[in-house]
Amino acid sequence: MSRLPAPLGSLPLPIIGSPLFIISNPKLVIEQCKAGVVGSMPALNARPAAQLDEWLHEITETLADYNRANPDKPAAPFAINQIVHKSNDRLEHDMEMVAKYKVPIIITSLGAREDVNQAIHAYGGVVLHDVINNRFAHKAIEKGADGLIAVAAGAGGHAGSKSPFALIQEIREWFDGPLALSGSIASGRAVLAAQVLGADFAYIGSAFIATEEARAVDAYKQAIVDATSDDIIYSNLFTGVLGNYLRPSIEAAGLDPDNLPVSDPTKMNFGSDREKPKAWKEIWGCGQGIGTIREVLPAREFIARLAREYAEARQQYFPGVRAAA
Ligand SMILES: Cc1cc2nc3c(=O)[nH]c(=O)nc-3n(C[C@H](O)[C@H](O)[C@H](O)COP(=O)(O)O)c2cc1C
Repeated sequence: MSRLPAPLGSLPLPIIGSPLFIISNPKLVIEQCKAGVVGSMPALNARPAAQLDEWLHEITETLADYNRANPDKPAAPFAINQIVHKSNDRLEHDMEMVAKYKVPIIITSLGAREDVNQAIHAYGGVVLHDVINNRFAHKAIEKGADGLIAVAAGAGGHAGSKSPFALIQEIREWFDGPLALSGSIASGRAVLAAQVLGADFAYIGSAFIATEEARAVDAYKQAIVDATSDDIIYSNLFTGVLGNYLRPSIEAAGLDPDNLPVSDPTKMNFGSDREKPKAWKEIWGCGQGIGTIREVLPAREFIARLAREYAEARQQYFPGVRAAA
């Protein structure tokens, strides 16, 4: 018996495709799940809010059809990301929708709320909360989250600054529940490394931007193919929170990536004569792990590569040891 709650205890691969603002969409989520990875998207990607109903219908129906046709190899469950912050005025509506469709896994970010966790548990959902340090990890579990996502240094989008070694080790001293590691994971070998560190799952974001299904412009996908960790800039200028972004997008906005000012929340405008460029749309989020991404692939093919590399790494380091079911 797995020590992890259903449905996390029986994933085909120990991988969660992380939610990506603007970029994740039902097509990507469905392909991730069919290929054996937990697919996810932020509820806020459905706009207007009413579109969330249609998208959840599409995902649940397509995966149910797939599972009926493939009873021996069912799809992985999917997850929806809720931004639990007072600025999110859709939260109540989006919570009603996830309850209506009994979304199996909810990823909460930017705030841990007991009532939100209770509402998810009431319909049988599992809550994973993302954290950048041990203090927030304690808080999330106290408020009722079932599991944690440790967002370490080098993650795409808003990122922590802790080494994954430090973060996982501190959390694992007291927490035995579901734990995902996030930040710069983009190969099957790194997935195994996350498990060896003590995580149950690898949480992968940026690598999925360079897939055919991702809702990103071609130049963004190509920038990921071309980039290495040298091209990732850590700055709080664009949203007020520290995050990792692609150098070419900062240059294209007319800024010098090596001399970015520190964000000053009291200033409305950036620079002398132009407004601050739009984070996510103009300034492209990306983690440090994308050096292994050499081409834009269908998500299914990228996941097949991860699965192959993961199996090879297991064989190399743990020959004869069978994967936990
Ligand atoms: C472009 C982009 C958008 C993101 N949007 C969200 C989001 O809406 N909600 C969220 O919880 N995390 C978001 N993240 C963070 C990811 O879910 C995840 O923590 C991160 O991508 C993992 O690191 P990696 O990109 O190095 O794999 C975003 C990351 C990127 C790169």
